[in-house]
Amino acid sequence: MRKKIVAGNWKMNKNLQEGIALATELNEALAADKPNCDVVICTPFIHLAKVSDVIDHSVIGLGAENCADKDKGAFTGEVSAEMVKSTGAEYVILGHSERREYYKETPEILKEKVLLALANGLKVIFCIGESLDEREANKQNEVVKAELEGSVFNLSAEDFGKIIIAYEPIWAIGTGKTASSEQAEEIHAYIRSVIADKYGKEVADNTSILYGGSCKASNAPELFAKPDIDGGLIGGASLKCADFKGIIDAWK
Ligand code: PGA
Repeated sequence: MRKKIVAGNWKMNKNLQEGIALATELNEALAADKPNCDVVICTPFIHLAKVSDVIDHSVIGLGAENCADKDKGAFTGEVSAEMVKSTGAEYVILGHSERREYYKETPEILKEKVLLALANGLKVIFCIGESLDEREANKQNEVVKAELEGSVFNLSAEDFGKIIIAYEPIWAIGTGKTASSEQAEEIHAYIRSVIADKYGKEVADNTSILYGGSCKASNAPELFAKPDIDGGLIGGASLKCADFKGIIDAWK
Protein backbone atom coordinates (compact mmCIF):
# COMPACT_ATOMS: atom_id res chain seq x y z
CA MET A 1 0.00 0.00 0.00
CA ARG A 2 1.06 3.59 -0.49
CA LYS A 3 3.33 5.39 1.90
CA LYS A 4 2.35 8.06 4.39
CA ILE A 5 4.78 10.94 4.02
CA VAL A 6 5.44 14.27 5.70
CA ALA A 7 7.90 16.33 3.65
CA GLY A 8 9.32 19.74 4.52
CA ASN A 9 10.08 22.36 1.90
CA TRP A 10 12.42 24.90 3.46
CA LYS A 11 12.31 27.17 0.38
CA MET A 12 14.85 30.04 0.53
CA ASN A 13 15.11 30.06 4.31
CA LYS A 14 17.93 29.19 6.74
CA ASN A 15 21.61 29.83 6.17
CA LEU A 16 23.90 26.81 6.26
CA GLN A 17 24.51 26.87 10.02
CA GLU A 18 20.81 27.32 10.78
CA GLY A 19 19.92 24.51 8.39
CA ILE A 20 22.38 22.09 9.97
CA ALA A 21 21.04 23.01 13.41
CA LEU A 22 17.44 22.38 12.35
CA ALA A 23 18.27 19.05 10.69
CA THR A 24 20.26 17.95 13.75
CA GLU A 25 17.43 18.88 16.10
CA LEU A 26 14.87 17.03 13.98
CA ASN A 27 17.12 14.00 13.73
CA GLU A 28 17.42 13.88 17.52
CA ALA A 29 13.69 14.38 18.04
CA LEU A 30 12.82 11.54 15.65
CA ALA A 31 15.49 9.22 17.09
CA ALA A 32 13.87 9.68 20.49
CA ASP A 33 10.33 9.28 19.16
CA LYS A 34 10.17 7.22 15.95
CA PRO A 35 7.77 8.57 13.32
CA ASN A 36 4.87 6.56 12.00
CA CYS A 37 5.39 7.83 8.46
CA ASP A 38 8.20 8.60 6.03
CA VAL A 39 9.78 11.97 6.78
CA VAL A 40 11.62 14.00 4.15
CA ILE A 41 13.31 17.39 4.36
CA CYS A 42 13.91 19.33 1.14
CA THR A 43 16.58 21.97 1.56
CA PRO A 44 18.43 24.54 -0.52
CA PHE A 45 21.16 22.98 -2.69
CA ILE A 46 24.02 24.29 -0.60
CA HIS A 47 22.71 22.54 2.52
CA LEU A 48 22.35 19.08 1.04
CA ALA A 49 25.82 17.58 1.50
CA LYS A 50 26.21 18.76 5.09
CA VAL A 51 22.65 17.92 6.11
CA SER A 52 23.14 14.48 4.57
CA ASP A 53 25.94 13.86 7.08
CA VAL A 54 23.92 14.80 10.17
CA ILE A 55 20.73 12.83 9.53
CA ASP A 56 19.95 9.15 9.87
CA HIS A 57 18.72 8.39 6.36
CA SER A 58 16.70 5.43 7.60
CA VAL A 59 14.51 7.93 9.47
CA ILE A 60 14.76 11.17 7.45
CA GLY A 61 14.94 11.30 3.66
CA LEU A 62 16.71 14.23 2.06
CA GLY A 63 15.63 16.15 -1.00
CA ALA A 64 16.39 19.18 -3.13
CA GLU A 65 13.82 21.83 -4.06
CA ASN A 66 14.68 21.85 -7.75
CA CYS A 67 17.15 20.54 -10.32
CA ALA A 68 18.25 21.54 -13.80
CA ASP A 69 16.48 20.58 -17.01
CA LYS A 70 19.84 19.79 -18.60
CA ASP A 71 22.17 16.89 -18.00
CA LYS A 72 25.49 18.76 -17.64
CA GLY A 73 27.67 21.37 -19.26
CA ALA A 74 27.75 25.11 -19.81
CA PHE A 75 24.69 26.16 -17.79
CA THR A 76 26.11 28.66 -15.32
CA GLY A 77 24.47 28.56 -11.93
CA GLU A 78 22.45 25.41 -12.52
CA VAL A 79 22.58 22.24 -10.42
CA SER A 80 21.98 18.90 -12.14
CA ALA A 81 19.99 15.92 -10.88
CA GLU A 82 23.23 13.93 -10.82
CA MET A 83 24.84 16.54 -8.55
CA VAL A 84 21.82 16.46 -6.24
CA LYS A 85 22.02 12.68 -6.04
CA SER A 86 25.76 12.79 -5.31
CA THR A 87 25.14 14.75 -2.08
CA GLY A 88 23.21 11.85 -0.57
CA ALA A 89 19.79 13.26 -1.44
CA GLU A 90 17.07 10.84 -2.49
CA TYR A 91 14.24 13.19 -3.50
CA VAL A 92 13.63 16.34 -5.49
CA ILE A 93 10.60 18.65 -5.52
CA LEU A 94 9.61 19.60 -9.07
CA GLY A 95 6.76 21.70 -10.41
CA HIS A 96 6.28 23.84 -7.32
CA SER A 97 3.95 26.72 -8.15
CA GLU A 98 6.64 29.22 -7.10
CA ARG A 99 8.99 27.75 -9.74
CA ARG A 100 6.21 27.70 -12.34
CA GLU A 101 5.21 31.29 -11.61
CA TYR A 102 8.43 33.16 -10.75
CA TYR A 103 10.90 31.20 -12.88
CA LYS A 104 8.56 30.45 -15.77
CA GLU A 105 8.96 26.71 -15.64
CA THR A 106 6.70 25.31 -18.34
CA PRO A 107 5.22 21.80 -18.54
CA GLU A 108 7.90 20.94 -21.14
CA ILE A 109 10.75 22.10 -18.91
CA LEU A 110 9.28 20.15 -16.00
CA LYS A 111 8.97 17.06 -18.15
CA GLU A 112 12.73 17.22 -18.82
CA LYS A 113 13.49 17.76 -15.15
CA VAL A 114 11.37 14.78 -14.14
CA LEU A 115 13.10 12.52 -16.68
CA LEU A 116 16.57 13.61 -15.52
CA ALA A 117 15.65 13.22 -11.85
CA LEU A 118 14.39 9.67 -12.42
CA ALA A 119 17.35 8.77 -14.63
CA ASN A 120 19.60 9.74 -11.73
CA GLY A 121 17.72 7.67 -9.19
CA LEU A 122 15.85 10.48 -7.43
CA LYS A 123 12.24 10.19 -6.32
CA VAL A 124 10.18 13.14 -7.47
CA ILE A 125 7.69 15.09 -5.39
CA PHE A 126 5.68 16.60 -8.24
CA CYS A 127 3.50 19.58 -7.32
CA ILE A 128 0.20 20.48 -8.94
CA GLY A 129 -2.58 22.86 -7.94
CA GLU A 130 -4.85 25.65 -9.08
CA SER A 131 -4.82 29.40 -8.50
CA LEU A 132 -7.60 31.25 -6.69
CA ASP A 133 -9.09 32.45 -10.02
CA GLU A 134 -9.14 28.91 -11.34
CA ARG A 135 -10.79 27.63 -8.15
CA GLU A 136 -13.40 30.40 -8.29
CA ALA A 137 -14.14 29.45 -11.90
CA ASN A 138 -14.43 25.81 -10.75
CA LYS A 139 -11.56 24.79 -13.02
CA GLN A 140 -9.42 23.02 -10.43
CA ASN A 141 -9.97 19.53 -11.82
CA GLU A 142 -9.04 20.58 -15.37
CA VAL A 143 -5.93 22.36 -14.10
CA VAL A 144 -4.52 19.46 -12.10
CA LYS A 145 -5.30 16.98 -14.87
CA ALA A 146 -3.49 19.14 -17.44
CA GLU A 147 -0.49 19.48 -15.10
CA LEU A 148 -0.23 15.71 -14.79
CA GLU A 149 -0.67 15.20 -18.54
CA GLY A 150 1.85 17.91 -19.35
CA SER A 151 4.79 16.62 -17.34
CA VAL A 152 4.40 13.10 -15.88
CA PHE A 153 1.86 11.08 -17.89
CA ASN A 154 4.53 10.42 -20.52
CA LEU A 155 6.23 8.09 -17.99
CA SER A 156 5.98 4.32 -17.97
CA ALA A 157 3.91 2.86 -15.13
CA GLU A 158 7.14 1.70 -13.51
CA ASP A 159 8.63 5.20 -13.55
CA PHE A 160 5.36 6.79 -12.48
CA GLY A 161 5.67 4.59 -9.39
CA LYS A 162 8.63 6.77 -8.33
CA ILE A 163 6.49 9.92 -8.33
CA ILE A 164 4.86 11.37 -5.24
CA ILE A 165 2.15 13.89 -6.05
CA ALA A 166 1.71 17.02 -3.94
CA TYR A 167 -1.59 18.82 -4.42
CA GLU A 168 -1.01 22.43 -3.39
CA PRO A 169 -3.76 24.94 -4.08
CA ILE A 170 -1.83 28.14 -4.79
CA TRP A 171 -4.33 30.18 -2.78
CA ALA A 172 -3.44 28.18 0.32
CA ILE A 173 0.36 28.39 0.10
CA GLY A 174 1.81 30.60 2.81
CA THR A 175 -1.50 32.44 3.14
CA GLY A 176 -2.80 30.81 6.31
CA LYS A 177 -5.85 29.70 4.30
CA THR A 178 -6.04 25.91 4.20
CA ALA A 179 -8.31 23.99 1.90
CA SER A 180 -10.96 22.38 4.09
CA SER A 181 -10.38 18.68 4.58
CA GLU A 182 -13.49 18.05 2.44
CA GLN A 183 -12.21 20.27 -0.40
CA ALA A 184 -8.82 18.59 -0.25
CA GLU A 185 -10.24 15.07 -0.13
CA GLU A 186 -12.52 15.78 -3.09
CA ILE A 187 -9.67 16.80 -5.36
CA HIS A 188 -7.25 14.16 -4.05
CA ALA A 189 -9.85 11.50 -4.93
CA TYR A 190 -10.22 13.10 -8.36
CA ILE A 191 -6.42 13.08 -8.88
CA ARG A 192 -6.31 9.41 -7.91
CA SER A 193 -9.10 8.66 -10.41
CA VAL A 194 -7.18 10.43 -13.20
CA ILE A 195 -4.10 8.35 -12.33
CA ALA A 196 -6.26 5.20 -12.35
CA ASP A 197 -7.64 6.08 -15.80
CA LYS A 198 -4.11 6.45 -17.10
CA TYR A 199 -2.18 3.69 -15.28
CA GLY A 200 -4.83 1.46 -13.69
CA LYS A 201 -6.18 1.11 -10.18
CA GLU A 202 -3.16 -0.62 -8.68
CA VAL A 203 -0.75 2.17 -9.63
CA ALA A 204 -3.26 4.78 -8.44
CA ASP A 205 -3.73 3.00 -5.11
CA ASN A 206 0.04 2.89 -4.63
CA THR A 207 0.61 6.60 -5.38
CA SER A 208 1.08 8.86 -2.37
CA ILE A 209 -0.78 12.14 -2.78
CA LEU A 210 0.29 14.82 -0.29
CA TYR A 211 -1.59 17.98 0.60
CA GLY A 212 0.31 21.26 0.82
CA GLY A 213 -0.78 24.78 1.70
CA SER A 214 -0.76 26.18 5.23
CA CYS A 215 -0.71 22.70 6.73
CA LYS A 216 0.16 22.80 10.42
CA ALA A 217 -0.04 20.64 13.53
CA SER A 218 -3.54 21.93 14.29
CA ASN A 219 -5.12 20.98 10.95
CA ALA A 220 -2.96 18.01 9.92
CA PRO A 221 -4.91 15.35 11.87
CA GLU A 222 -8.16 16.24 10.13
CA LEU A 223 -6.53 16.41 6.68
CA PHE A 224 -4.56 13.18 7.12
CA ALA A 225 -7.66 11.33 8.34
CA LYS A 226 -9.13 11.56 4.82
CA PRO A 227 -8.74 8.38 2.76
CA ASP A 228 -6.99 9.97 -0.23
CA ILE A 229 -4.67 12.32 1.69
CA ASP A 230 -1.41 10.49 2.32
CA GLY A 231 0.50 13.22 4.12
CA GLY A 232 1.70 16.75 3.59
CA LEU A 233 4.25 18.97 1.88
CA ILE A 234 5.01 21.59 4.48
CA GLY A 235 6.55 25.02 3.94
CA GLY A 236 6.39 27.49 6.82
CA ALA A 237 5.69 24.89 9.49
CA SER A 238 8.77 22.86 8.50
CA LEU A 239 11.11 25.63 9.65
CA LYS A 240 10.78 24.88 13.37
CA CYS A 241 11.42 21.41 14.70
CA ALA A 242 8.49 21.43 17.13
CA ASP A 243 6.02 22.61 14.46
CA PHE A 244 7.18 20.03 11.93
CA LYS A 245 7.25 17.24 14.52
CA GLY A 246 3.69 18.19 15.48
CA ILE A 247 2.61 17.47 11.89
CA ILE A 248 4.60 14.20 11.77
CA ASP A 249 2.83 13.17 14.98
CA ALA A 250 -0.54 13.63 13.30
CA TRP A 251 0.06 10.11 11.91
CA LYS A 252 0.15 8.67 15.46
P1 PGA B 1 3.18 26.52 3.25
O1 PGA B 1 3.93 26.07 1.90
O2 PGA B 1 3.10 25.28 4.12
O3 PGA B 1 4.08 27.57 3.84
O4 PGA B 1 1.84 27.02 2.87
C1 PGA B 1 3.68 24.82 1.32
C2 PGA B 1 4.52 24.67 0.07
O5 PGA B 1 4.61 25.64 -0.70
O6 PGA B 1 5.10 23.58 -0.18
